[in-house]
Amino acid sequence: MLTDNMLLTLFFVSGALADCLLNPSLFITAPKQMEALSGSCLIIPCNFSAKQDQDFISVRTTFGVWIKSDSRFKNNRNNVIFNSSGTVTTYPMSITGDLSQKNCTTLFSSLITSYTDTYYFRIENIAFRATASCDPLQITVQDSPPSPRIEIPYDLKEKKSVTISCSASTPCPHSPPKLTWNLQQDPPNNIEENTDRTFTTKIQKTITLSDTHDGFTISCSATYPVNEGREVKTAEERKTLNVSYAPKNTSVSISPSGLVSAGSWVNLTCSSRAKPPASFSWFKNSKDGAIRVAEGDFYSFNVTDVTDGDYYCVATNDLGNQTSSEIHVTNEDPPKDVMVVISPTDPVSVGSVVNLTCSCRGNPPVVNFVWFMISDGRLELIKADTQVYGFKVTNSDRGRVYYCGCRNDLDIQLSTGCQLIFEGEQVGVEVILKILAVIMLVSTLVIFECWFRSRCSTEPVKDTGEAVYVNSAVELHPS
Ligand SMILES: *[C@@H]1O[C@H](CO)[C@@H](O)[C@H](O)[C@H]1NC(C)=O
Ligand SMILES: *[C@@H]1O[C@H](CO)[C@@H](O)[C@H](O)[C@H]1NC(C)=O
Ligand SMILES: *[C@@H]1O[C@H](CO)[C@@H](O)[C@H](O)[C@H]1NC(C)=O
Ligand SMILES: *[C@@H]1O[C@H](CO)[C@@H](O)[C@H](O)[C@H]1NC(C)=O
Ligand SMILES: *[C@@H]1O[C@H](CO)[C@@H](O)[C@H](O)[C@H]1NC(C)=O
Ligand SMILES: *[C@@H]1O[C@H](CO)[C@@H](O)[C@H](O)[C@H]1NC(C)=O
Repeated sequence: MLTDNMLLTLFFVSGALADCLLNPSLFITAPKQMEALSGSCLIIPCNFSAKQDQDFISVRTTFGVWIKSDSRFKNNRNNVIFNSSGTVTTYPMSITGDLSQKNCTTLFSSLITSYTDTYYFRIENIAFRATASCDPLQITVQDSPPSPRIEIPYDLKEKKSVTISCSASTPCPHSPPKLTWNLQQDPPNNIEENTDRTFTTKIQKTITLSDTHDGFTISCSATYPVNEGREVKTAEERKTLNVSYAPKNTSVSISPSGLVSAGSWVNLTCSSRAKPPASFSWFKNSKDGAIRVAEGDFYSFNVTDVTDGDYYCVATNDLGNQTSSEIHVTNEDPPKDVMVVISPTDPVSVGSVVNLTCSCRGNPPVVNFVWFMISDGRLELIKADTQVYGFKVTNSDRGRVYYCGCRNDLDIQLSTGCQLIFEGEQVGVEVILKILAVIMLVSTLVIFECWFRSRCSTEPVKDTGEAVYVNSAVELHPS
Protein backbone atom coordinates (compact mmCIF):
# COMPACT_ATOMS: atom_id res chain seq x y z
CA MET A 1 0.00 0.00 0.00
CA LEU A 2 2.71 2.40 1.10
CA THR A 3 4.92 1.29 -1.79
CA ASP A 4 2.05 1.81 -4.22
CA ASN A 5 1.58 5.37 -2.98
CA MET A 6 5.27 6.06 -3.26
CA LEU A 7 5.38 4.69 -6.79
CA LEU A 8 2.35 6.78 -7.68
CA THR A 9 3.99 9.90 -6.25
CA LEU A 10 7.21 9.20 -8.07
CA PHE A 11 5.34 8.66 -11.32
CA PHE A 12 3.32 11.81 -10.79
CA VAL A 13 6.32 14.02 -9.95
CA SER A 14 8.43 12.67 -12.77
CA GLY A 15 5.49 13.02 -15.18
CA ALA A 16 4.77 16.63 -14.27
CA LEU A 17 8.46 17.39 -14.32
CA ALA A 18 8.81 15.76 -17.73
CA ASP A 19 6.08 18.06 -19.05
CA CYS A 20 7.90 21.08 -17.61
CA LEU A 21 11.16 19.89 -19.23
CA LEU A 22 9.40 20.05 -22.59
CA ASN A 23 10.11 23.76 -22.45
CA PRO A 24 6.63 25.30 -22.16
CA SER A 25 5.83 28.56 -23.88
CA LEU A 26 3.67 29.96 -21.02
CA PHE A 27 4.70 31.20 -17.58
CA ILE A 28 2.71 32.65 -14.73
CA THR A 29 3.68 34.89 -11.85
CA ALA A 30 1.76 33.70 -8.81
CA PRO A 31 2.63 32.41 -5.33
CA LYS A 32 4.00 28.85 -5.40
CA GLN A 33 2.01 27.82 -2.35
CA MET A 34 -1.20 29.19 -0.92
CA GLU A 35 -3.18 28.30 2.15
CA ALA A 36 -6.89 28.83 2.46
CA LEU A 37 -9.71 28.15 4.87
CA SER A 38 -12.58 25.86 4.07
CA GLY A 39 -15.88 27.74 3.83
CA SER A 40 -14.03 30.85 2.73
CA CYS A 41 -12.46 31.99 -0.56
CA LEU A 42 -9.02 32.42 -2.04
CA ILE A 43 -7.80 35.12 -4.36
CA ILE A 44 -4.98 33.84 -6.54
CA PRO A 45 -2.96 36.83 -7.74
CA CYS A 46 -1.78 35.86 -11.21
CA ASN A 47 -0.13 37.27 -14.30
CA PHE A 48 1.00 35.33 -17.30
CA SER A 49 3.51 35.80 -20.06
CA ALA A 50 4.23 33.96 -23.27
CA LYS A 51 7.76 32.85 -24.04
CA GLN A 52 7.54 34.57 -27.40
CA ASP A 53 5.72 37.77 -26.62
CA GLN A 54 4.26 38.05 -30.14
CA ASP A 55 2.56 34.63 -29.69
CA PHE A 56 -0.10 36.13 -27.44
CA ILE A 57 -2.41 38.46 -29.30
CA SER A 58 -4.60 40.24 -26.80
CA VAL A 59 -7.35 41.26 -29.24
CA ARG A 60 -8.13 37.60 -29.92
CA THR A 61 -10.68 35.73 -27.86
CA THR A 62 -8.84 34.28 -24.92
CA PHE A 63 -9.86 31.55 -22.49
CA GLY A 64 -8.20 30.85 -19.21
CA VAL A 65 -8.18 27.26 -17.98
CA TRP A 66 -7.25 25.76 -14.58
CA ILE A 67 -6.09 22.17 -14.46
CA LYS A 68 -5.53 20.21 -11.28
CA SER A 69 -3.00 17.53 -10.29
CA ASP A 70 -1.18 17.06 -13.60
CA SER A 71 -0.51 19.56 -16.34
CA ARG A 72 -0.94 16.83 -18.99
CA PHE A 73 -4.79 16.86 -19.00
CA LYS A 74 -5.21 15.11 -22.31
CA ASN A 75 -5.08 11.67 -20.68
CA ASN A 76 -7.48 12.77 -17.94
CA ARG A 77 -9.96 15.39 -19.05
CA ASN A 78 -11.43 15.46 -15.53
CA ASN A 79 -8.34 17.30 -14.40
CA VAL A 80 -9.63 20.35 -16.26
CA ILE A 81 -11.72 21.89 -13.49
CA PHE A 82 -12.31 25.33 -14.91
CA ASN A 83 -12.54 26.87 -18.38
CA SER A 84 -13.40 30.57 -18.60
CA SER A 85 -15.35 29.79 -21.80
CA GLY A 86 -17.99 28.45 -19.42
CA THR A 87 -17.67 24.88 -20.71
CA VAL A 88 -16.12 23.61 -17.47
CA THR A 89 -17.07 24.89 -14.01
CA THR A 90 -16.31 21.81 -11.93
CA TYR A 91 -14.71 23.95 -9.22
CA PRO A 92 -16.23 27.31 -8.13
CA MET A 93 -13.66 29.56 -9.76
CA SER A 94 -13.81 32.78 -11.73
CA ILE A 95 -11.06 34.71 -13.45
CA THR A 96 -11.43 38.29 -12.22
CA GLY A 97 -8.32 39.57 -13.97
CA ASP A 98 -8.43 40.93 -17.49
CA LEU A 99 -6.86 38.20 -19.65
CA SER A 100 -6.17 40.66 -22.45
CA GLN A 101 -3.95 42.48 -19.92
CA LYS A 102 -2.27 39.14 -19.13
CA ASN A 103 -3.99 39.29 -15.73
CA CYS A 104 -5.11 35.80 -14.71
CA THR A 105 -6.10 36.75 -11.15
CA THR A 106 -8.65 34.15 -10.05
CA LEU A 107 -11.22 33.98 -7.29
CA PHE A 108 -11.59 30.48 -5.92
CA SER A 109 -14.68 30.40 -3.69
CA SER A 110 -16.64 28.02 -1.40
CA LEU A 111 -13.49 26.11 -0.62
CA ILE A 112 -13.53 22.59 0.77
CA THR A 113 -10.53 20.61 1.98
CA SER A 114 -10.66 18.22 -0.97
CA TYR A 115 -9.69 21.13 -3.23
CA THR A 116 -6.21 20.78 -1.77
CA ASP A 117 -4.15 20.09 -4.88
CA THR A 118 -1.57 21.35 -7.36
CA TYR A 119 -2.99 23.66 -10.02
CA TYR A 120 -1.74 24.65 -13.47
CA PHE A 121 -2.87 27.59 -15.56
CA ARG A 122 -3.47 27.37 -19.29
CA ILE A 123 -4.19 29.97 -21.97
CA GLU A 124 -6.17 29.32 -25.14
CA ASN A 125 -5.75 32.24 -27.51
CA ILE A 126 -6.93 30.68 -30.80
CA ALA A 127 -3.67 29.35 -32.21
CA PHE A 128 -1.63 30.03 -29.08
CA ARG A 129 -2.51 27.32 -26.58
CA ALA A 130 -0.11 26.63 -23.72
CA THR A 131 -0.02 25.35 -20.17
CA ALA A 132 2.36 26.90 -17.60
CA SER A 133 3.62 23.44 -16.63
CA CYS A 134 6.73 24.81 -14.90
CA ASP A 135 4.67 27.03 -12.55
CA PRO A 136 2.59 24.69 -10.41
CA LEU A 137 0.53 26.33 -7.66
CA GLN A 138 0.04 24.26 -4.52
CA ILE A 139 -3.22 25.15 -2.76
CA THR A 140 -3.91 23.75 0.68
CA VAL A 141 -7.41 24.14 2.08
CA GLN A 142 -7.64 23.65 5.83
CA ASP A 143 -10.55 23.35 8.20
CA SER A 144 -8.95 25.55 10.85
CA PRO A 145 -7.46 28.95 10.18
CA PRO A 146 -3.75 29.60 10.59
CA SER A 147 -2.67 31.26 13.85
CA PRO A 148 -2.11 35.00 13.64
CA ARG A 149 1.49 36.16 14.08
CA ILE A 150 2.44 38.46 16.94
CA GLU A 151 5.54 40.47 16.16
CA ILE A 152 7.56 41.93 19.00
CA PRO A 153 10.93 43.59 18.44
CA TYR A 154 13.95 41.83 19.82
CA ASP A 155 15.68 43.04 23.02
CA LEU A 156 12.94 44.78 25.01
CA LYS A 157 14.09 47.34 27.57
CA GLU A 158 12.13 49.60 29.87
CA LYS A 159 11.57 53.20 28.66
CA LYS A 160 12.00 52.04 25.06
CA SER A 161 9.13 52.69 22.68
CA VAL A 162 8.28 49.65 20.58
CA THR A 163 5.65 48.75 18.03
CA ILE A 164 3.91 45.46 18.56
CA SER A 165 1.76 44.02 15.82
CA CYS A 166 -0.50 41.09 15.20
CA SER A 167 -1.21 39.99 11.68
CA ALA A 168 -3.26 37.29 10.04
CA SER A 169 -3.07 35.95 6.55
CA THR A 170 -6.07 37.02 4.50
CA PRO A 171 -6.57 34.60 1.60
CA CYS A 172 -10.06 35.96 1.03
CA PRO A 173 -9.92 39.78 1.25
CA HIS A 174 -13.70 39.91 0.64
CA SER A 175 -14.30 38.47 4.08
CA PRO A 176 -11.15 39.27 6.05
CA PRO A 177 -10.52 38.03 9.60
CA LYS A 178 -11.24 40.35 12.52
CA LEU A 179 -8.25 40.74 14.81
CA THR A 180 -8.61 41.51 18.50
CA TRP A 181 -6.07 41.49 21.31
CA ASN A 182 -5.67 42.41 24.95
CA LEU A 183 -3.50 45.49 24.34
CA GLN A 184 -6.22 48.00 23.55
CA GLN A 185 -9.89 47.94 22.72
CA ASP A 186 -11.24 47.76 19.17
CA PRO A 187 -7.98 48.30 17.31
CA PRO A 188 -8.50 49.37 13.69
CA ASN A 189 -7.90 46.42 11.35
CA ASN A 190 -5.81 47.30 8.32
CA ILE A 191 -5.61 45.12 5.26
CA GLU A 192 -2.21 45.33 3.63
CA GLU A 193 -1.08 43.97 0.30
CA ASN A 194 2.09 41.94 0.38
CA THR A 195 4.79 42.00 -2.29
CA ASP A 196 3.40 38.78 -3.78
CA ARG A 197 0.00 40.54 -3.96
CA THR A 198 -1.54 38.33 -1.28
CA PHE A 199 -3.14 40.15 1.67
CA THR A 200 -2.52 40.41 5.39
CA THR A 201 -4.81 41.86 8.06
CA LYS A 202 -2.90 43.70 10.76
CA ILE A 203 -3.34 45.58 14.02
CA GLN A 204 -0.55 47.35 15.82
CA LYS A 205 0.25 49.50 18.80
CA THR A 206 3.26 51.46 19.95
CA ILE A 207 3.95 51.22 23.66
CA THR A 208 6.58 52.62 25.95
CA LEU A 209 7.86 49.71 27.95
CA SER A 210 8.10 49.60 31.71
CA ASP A 211 8.89 46.88 34.21
CA THR A 212 5.17 46.16 34.56
CA HIS A 213 5.14 44.87 30.97
CA ASP A 214 7.60 42.13 31.80
CA GLY A 215 5.84 38.79 31.84
CA PHE A 216 2.71 40.23 30.23
CA THR A 217 1.19 37.79 27.78
CA ILE A 218 -0.23 39.29 24.62
CA SER A 219 -3.01 37.22 23.21
CA CYS A 220 -4.27 37.97 19.72
CA SER A 221 -7.14 36.22 18.02
CA ALA A 222 -8.21 36.19 14.40
CA THR A 223 -11.85 35.47 13.66
CA TYR A 224 -12.57 34.44 10.07
CA PRO A 225 -16.11 34.58 8.72
CA VAL A 226 -16.95 31.40 6.76
CA ASN A 227 -19.93 30.07 4.78
CA GLU A 228 -21.07 33.52 3.68
CA GLY A 229 -20.62 34.90 7.17
CA ARG A 230 -23.02 32.44 8.80
CA GLU A 231 -20.22 31.04 10.94
CA VAL A 232 -16.81 32.07 12.18
CA LYS A 233 -13.56 30.22 12.78
CA THR A 234 -11.06 31.55 15.26
CA ALA A 235 -7.36 31.09 15.80
CA GLU A 236 -5.34 32.54 18.64
CA GLU A 237 -1.70 33.29 19.31
CA ARG A 238 0.01 34.23 22.55
CA LYS A 239 3.38 35.73 23.25
CA THR A 240 4.90 36.84 26.51
CA LEU A 241 6.89 40.04 26.81
CA ASN A 242 10.35 39.73 28.24
CA VAL A 243 11.38 43.23 29.32
CA SER A 244 14.63 44.04 31.08
CA TYR A 245 14.59 46.83 33.62
CA ALA A 246 16.79 48.59 36.15
CA PRO A 247 16.50 47.59 39.84
CA LYS A 248 13.21 48.46 41.59
CA ASN A 249 11.95 48.14 45.16
CA THR A 250 15.47 47.91 46.55
CA SER A 251 15.31 47.43 50.31
CA VAL A 252 17.41 46.30 53.23
CA SER A 253 16.24 43.92 55.92
CA ILE A 254 18.03 43.26 59.15
CA SER A 255 18.20 40.04 61.12
CA PRO A 256 17.85 39.84 64.04
CA SER A 257 15.61 42.88 63.79
CA GLY A 258 16.01 46.03 65.84
CA LEU A 259 18.79 46.44 68.32
CA VAL A 260 21.65 44.01 68.42
CA SER A 261 23.69 43.22 71.48
CA ALA A 262 27.36 43.97 71.15
CA GLY A 263 29.44 40.95 70.21
CA SER A 264 26.70 39.22 68.23
CA TRP A 265 26.28 38.88 64.49
CA VAL A 266 23.89 41.01 62.53
CA ASN A 267 22.87 40.09 59.00
CA LEU A 268 21.77 42.77 56.53
CA THR A 269 20.08 41.47 53.39
CA CYS A 270 19.53 43.54 50.27
CA SER A 271 16.72 42.65 47.91
CA SER A 272 15.60 44.17 44.66
CA ARG A 273 13.44 43.43 41.64
CA ALA A 274 15.58 43.67 38.54
CA LYS A 275 16.02 42.02 35.16
CA PRO A 276 18.65 40.77 34.67
CA PRO A 277 19.13 40.17 38.43
CA ALA A 278 20.99 42.90 40.28
CA SER A 279 24.28 42.68 42.10
CA PHE A 280 24.59 44.51 45.39
CA SER A 281 27.07 46.83 47.09
CA TRP A 282 26.92 47.87 50.73
CA PHE A 283 27.64 51.33 52.06
CA LYS A 284 27.92 52.82 55.51
CA ASN A 285 27.25 56.49 56.04
CA SER A 286 29.87 58.31 58.03
CA LYS A 287 30.79 61.94 58.67
CA ASP A 288 33.16 61.79 55.70
CA GLY A 289 30.45 60.49 53.39
CA ALA A 290 29.47 56.99 52.38
CA ILE A 291 32.05 54.21 52.58
CA ARG A 292 31.73 51.05 50.52
CA VAL A 293 31.90 48.22 53.04
CA ALA A 294 30.94 45.05 51.19
CA GLU A 295 29.65 43.38 48.02
CA GLY A 296 26.97 40.73 47.72
CA ASP A 297 23.38 39.92 48.61
CA PHE A 298 24.01 40.11 52.34
CA TYR A 299 26.43 41.71 54.72
CA SER A 300 27.08 40.11 58.09
CA PHE A 301 29.20 41.57 60.80
CA ASN A 302 29.97 41.37 64.51
CA VAL A 303 28.32 44.29 66.27
CA THR A 304 30.58 46.61 68.23
CA ASP A 305 30.52 50.33 69.10
CA VAL A 306 32.34 51.11 65.85
CA THR A 307 29.79 49.32 63.69
CA ASP A 308 26.98 51.62 64.89
CA GLY A 309 25.61 53.65 62.03
CA ASP A 310 23.39 53.89 58.98
CA TYR A 311 23.74 51.27 56.27
CA TYR A 312 22.27 51.04 52.79
CA CYS A 313 22.75 48.98 49.68
CA VAL A 314 22.86 49.81 45.97
CA ALA A 315 21.43 47.32 43.49
CA THR A 316 22.97 47.46 40.01
CA ASN A 317 22.37 45.73 36.70
CA ASP A 318 23.08 46.58 33.05
CA LEU A 319 20.16 49.01 32.97
CA GLY A 320 20.94 51.10 36.02
CA ASN A 321 21.11 51.17 39.78
CA GLN A 322 18.89 51.93 42.75
CA THR A 323 19.76 52.87 46.31
CA SER A 324 17.82 51.43 49.23
CA SER A 325 16.72 53.51 52.18
CA GLU A 326 19.06 53.47 55.17
CA ILE A 327 18.84 51.13 58.09
CA HIS A 328 20.23 52.03 61.48
CA VAL A 329 22.30 49.48 63.37
CA THR A 330 22.95 50.15 67.06
CA ASN A 331 24.42 47.83 69.60
CA GLU A 332 22.39 47.25 72.74
CA ASP A 333 23.60 48.32 76.15
CA PRO A 334 22.17 47.40 79.53
CA PRO A 335 22.13 50.35 81.97
CA LYS A 336 25.68 51.29 82.88
CA ASP A 337 27.52 53.68 85.24
CA VAL A 338 24.54 54.06 87.56
CA MET A 339 25.29 56.78 90.16
CA VAL A 340 23.47 58.99 92.58
CA VAL A 341 24.53 62.61 92.13
CA ILE A 342 23.84 64.90 95.07
CA SER A 343 23.15 68.55 94.44
CA PRO A 344 24.27 70.84 95.86
CA THR A 345 27.54 69.07 96.48
CA ASP A 346 28.24 70.95 99.70
CA PRO A 347 27.61 69.24 103.07
CA VAL A 348 23.96 69.57 104.06
CA SER A 349 22.29 70.91 107.16
CA VAL A 350 18.87 70.18 108.59
CA GLY A 351 16.24 72.16 106.70
CA SER A 352 18.23 72.55 103.48
CA VAL A 353 16.87 71.12 100.22
CA VAL A 354 18.83 68.50 98.32
CA ASN A 355 18.21 66.91 94.93
CA LEU A 356 19.39 63.39 94.27
CA THR A 357 19.72 62.63 90.57
CA CYS A 358 19.98 59.10 89.27
CA SER A 359 22.54 59.15 86.46
CA CYS A 360 23.08 56.26 84.07
CA ARG A 361 23.22 55.43 80.36
CA GLY A 362 21.97 52.56 78.28
CA ASN A 363 20.62 51.62 74.89
CA PRO A 364 17.72 51.47 74.36
CA PRO A 365 17.34 54.47 76.73
CA VAL A 366 16.53 53.89 80.38
CA VAL A 367 12.79 54.02 80.90
CA ASN A 368 12.44 53.51 84.65
CA PHE A 369 14.11 54.90 87.76
CA VAL A 370 13.54 53.85 91.31
CA TRP A 371 14.79 55.16 94.64
CA PHE A 372 15.56 53.19 97.82
CA MET A 373 17.07 53.93 101.13
CA ILE A 374 18.36 51.98 104.05
CA SER A 375 17.18 53.56 107.22
CA ASP A 376 17.72 51.95 110.64
CA GLY A 377 18.61 48.69 108.93
CA ARG A 378 15.38 48.58 106.89
CA LEU A 379 15.36 48.73 103.11
CA GLU A 380 12.60 51.02 101.97
CA LEU A 381 11.31 51.99 98.55
CA ILE A 382 11.05 55.76 98.41
CA LYS A 383 9.89 56.73 95.00
CA ALA A 384 9.54 55.36 91.52
CA ASP A 385 9.46 56.78 87.99
CA THR A 386 11.43 59.88 88.70
CA GLN A 387 15.04 60.52 87.89
CA VAL A 388 15.38 63.36 90.43
CA TYR A 389 14.40 62.89 94.05
CA GLY A 390 14.31 66.17 95.97
CA PHE A 391 13.57 66.59 99.68
CA LYS A 392 14.10 68.79 102.76
CA VAL A 393 16.82 67.37 105.01
CA THR A 394 15.76 66.28 108.50
CA ASN A 395 17.70 64.89 111.40
CA SER A 396 16.56 61.35 110.58
CA ASP A 397 18.47 61.55 107.30
CA ARG A 398 21.70 61.09 109.25
CA GLY A 399 23.08 57.65 108.51
CA ARG A 400 20.55 56.90 105.77
CA VAL A 401 22.00 55.34 102.61
CA TYR A 402 20.35 56.15 99.28
CA TYR A 403 20.30 54.00 96.14
CA CYS A 404 18.79 54.40 92.75
CA GLY A 405 18.06 51.87 90.04
CA CYS A 406 17.87 52.23 86.26
CA ARG A 407 15.98 49.92 83.95
CA ASN A 408 15.82 49.59 80.19
CA ASP A 409 14.43 46.77 78.00
CA LEU A 410 17.52 44.70 78.67
CA ASP A 411 18.34 44.88 82.37
CA ILE A 412 18.12 46.64 85.73
CA GLN A 413 21.20 48.07 87.41
CA LEU A 414 21.53 49.65 90.84
CA SER A 415 23.85 52.41 91.92
CA THR A 416 26.20 52.11 94.85
CA GLY A 417 24.88 53.62 98.07
CA CYS A 418 25.23 57.26 98.84
CA GLN A 419 24.99 59.11 102.13
CA LEU A 420 24.38 62.74 102.86
CA ILE A 421 27.30 64.41 104.57
CA PHE A 422 26.13 66.80 107.26
CA GLU A 423 28.08 69.97 108.02
CA GLY A 424 30.98 69.22 110.34
CA GLU A 425 30.71 65.46 109.85
CA GLN A 426 32.84 62.94 107.98
CA VAL A 427 32.02 59.52 106.60
CA GLY A 428 33.40 56.98 109.03
CA VAL A 429 34.81 53.52 108.31
CA GLU A 430 31.86 51.90 110.09
CA VAL A 431 29.44 53.54 107.69
CA ILE A 432 31.41 52.44 104.62
CA LEU A 433 31.41 48.83 105.79
CA LYS A 434 27.70 49.01 106.40
CA ILE A 435 27.22 50.36 102.88
CA LEU A 436 29.27 47.55 101.35
CA ALA A 437 27.28 44.86 103.15
CA VAL A 438 24.08 46.41 101.96
CA ILE A 439 25.31 46.57 98.38
CA MET A 440 26.06 42.86 98.40
CA LEU A 441 22.61 42.04 99.66
CA VAL A 442 20.81 44.39 97.41
CA SER A 443 22.77 43.32 94.36
CA THR A 444 20.95 40.04 94.29
CA LEU A 445 18.27 42.22 92.71
CA VAL A 446 15.62 39.59 93.11
CA ILE A 447 13.12 41.69 94.86
CA PHE A 448 13.78 44.62 92.61
CA GLU A 449 13.21 42.62 89.54
CA CYS A 450 9.96 41.34 90.97
CA TRP A 451 8.96 44.82 91.80
CA PHE A 452 9.80 46.12 88.34
CA ARG A 453 7.92 43.34 86.64
CA SER A 454 4.79 43.98 88.67
CA ARG A 455 5.13 47.70 87.98
CA CYS A 456 5.28 47.10 84.29
CA SER A 457 2.03 45.27 84.22
CA THR A 458 0.05 47.78 86.27
CA GLU A 459 -0.84 51.39 85.72
CA PRO A 460 1.74 53.99 86.70
CA VAL A 461 1.60 54.86 90.38
CA LYS A 462 0.43 58.36 91.04
CA ASP A 463 3.23 60.46 92.35
CA THR A 464 1.80 61.74 95.64
CA GLY A 465 5.06 63.23 96.76
CA GLU A 466 5.02 60.84 99.73
CA ALA A 467 7.41 57.99 100.16
CA VAL A 468 6.04 54.67 98.89
CA TYR A 469 6.96 51.71 101.02
CA VAL A 470 7.74 48.24 99.94
CA ASN A 471 5.11 45.98 101.48
CA SER A 472 7.60 43.54 102.84
CA ALA A 473 10.43 45.73 103.94
CA VAL A 474 13.60 43.74 104.40
CA GLU A 475 15.20 43.56 107.81
CA LEU A 476 18.88 44.14 107.56
CA HIS A 477 21.49 43.07 110.01
CA PRO A 478 24.21 45.65 110.10
CA SER A 479 27.67 44.27 110.84
C1 LIG B 1 -12.10 25.55 -23.15
O1 LIG B 1 -13.29 25.91 -23.74
C2 LIG B 1 -13.12 26.20 -25.13
C3 LIG B 1 -14.45 26.71 -25.65
O2 LIG B 1 -15.43 25.74 -25.48
C4 LIG B 1 -12.61 24.98 -25.81
O3 LIG B 1 -12.40 25.25 -27.17
C5 LIG B 1 -11.35 24.48 -25.17
O4 LIG B 1 -10.92 23.27 -25.74
C6 LIG B 1 -11.51 24.29 -23.74
N1 LIG B 1 -10.23 23.97 -23.16
C7 LIG B 1 -9.98 22.87 -22.46
C8 LIG B 1 -8.62 22.68 -21.99
O5 LIG B 1 -10.86 22.12 -22.19
C1 LIG C 1 -5.46 41.97 -11.91
O1 LIG C 1 -6.84 42.00 -11.72
C2 LIG C 1 -7.29 42.21 -10.39
C3 LIG C 1 -8.80 42.13 -10.40
O2 LIG C 1 -9.17 40.84 -10.30
C4 LIG C 1 -6.81 43.53 -9.93
O3 LIG C 1 -7.20 43.71 -8.57
C5 LIG C 1 -5.33 43.59 -10.01
O4 LIG C 1 -4.87 44.86 -9.64
C6 LIG C 1 -4.88 43.29 -11.43
N1 LIG C 1 -3.44 43.20 -11.45
C7 LIG C 1 -2.69 43.96 -12.22
C8 LIG C 1 -1.23 43.74 -12.09
O5 LIG C 1 -3.16 44.82 -12.91
C1 LIG D 1 7.60 48.72 44.35
O1 LIG D 1 7.79 50.07 44.01
C2 LIG D 1 6.69 50.65 43.34
C3 LIG D 1 7.07 52.07 42.99
O2 LIG D 1 8.30 52.08 42.32
C4 LIG D 1 5.47 50.62 44.25
O3 LIG D 1 4.36 51.15 43.57
C5 LIG D 1 5.19 49.19 44.64
O4 LIG D 1 4.13 49.15 45.55
C6 LIG D 1 6.42 48.57 45.25
N1 LIG D 1 6.14 47.18 45.50
C7 LIG D 1 6.43 46.60 46.66
C8 LIG D 1 6.11 45.16 46.75
O5 LIG D 1 6.91 47.23 47.57
C1 LIG E 1 32.49 39.66 68.21
O1 LIG E 1 33.66 40.39 68.50
C2 LIG E 1 34.02 40.34 69.85
C3 LIG E 1 35.18 41.28 70.06
O2 LIG E 1 36.06 41.23 68.98
C4 LIG E 1 34.37 38.91 70.24
O3 LIG E 1 34.70 38.84 71.60
C5 LIG E 1 33.14 38.05 69.98
O4 LIG E 1 33.43 36.69 70.24
C6 LIG E 1 32.69 38.21 68.55
N1 LIG E 1 31.45 37.50 68.39
C7 LIG E 1 31.29 36.55 67.52
C8 LIG E 1 29.93 35.92 67.49
O5 LIG E 1 32.19 36.19 66.77
C1 LIG F 1 22.21 36.15 56.24
O1 LIG F 1 20.95 36.03 55.57
C2 LIG F 1 21.03 35.32 54.37
C3 LIG F 1 19.68 35.39 53.70
O2 LIG F 1 18.65 35.56 54.61
C4 LIG F 1 21.47 33.90 54.65
O3 LIG F 1 21.55 33.19 53.44
C5 LIG F 1 22.82 33.93 55.32
O4 LIG F 1 23.20 32.62 55.67
C6 LIG F 1 22.77 34.78 56.57
N1 LIG F 1 24.10 34.90 57.06
C7 LIG F 1 24.39 34.84 58.33
C8 LIG F 1 25.81 34.96 58.69
O5 LIG F 1 23.51 34.68 59.17
C1 LIG G 1 24.42 54.59 39.87
O1 LIG G 1 24.17 55.20 38.61
C2 LIG G 1 24.63 56.53 38.54
C3 LIG G 1 24.17 57.10 37.22
O2 LIG G 1 24.23 56.17 36.20
C4 LIG G 1 26.14 56.56 38.69
O3 LIG G 1 26.61 57.89 38.63
C5 LIG G 1 26.50 55.95 40.01
O4 LIG G 1 27.91 55.88 40.14
C6 LIG G 1 25.93 54.58 40.15
N1 LIG G 1 26.15 54.10 41.49
C7 LIG G 1 26.73 52.94 41.75
C8 LIG G 1 26.93 52.61 43.16
O5 LIG G 1 27.09 52.18 40.86
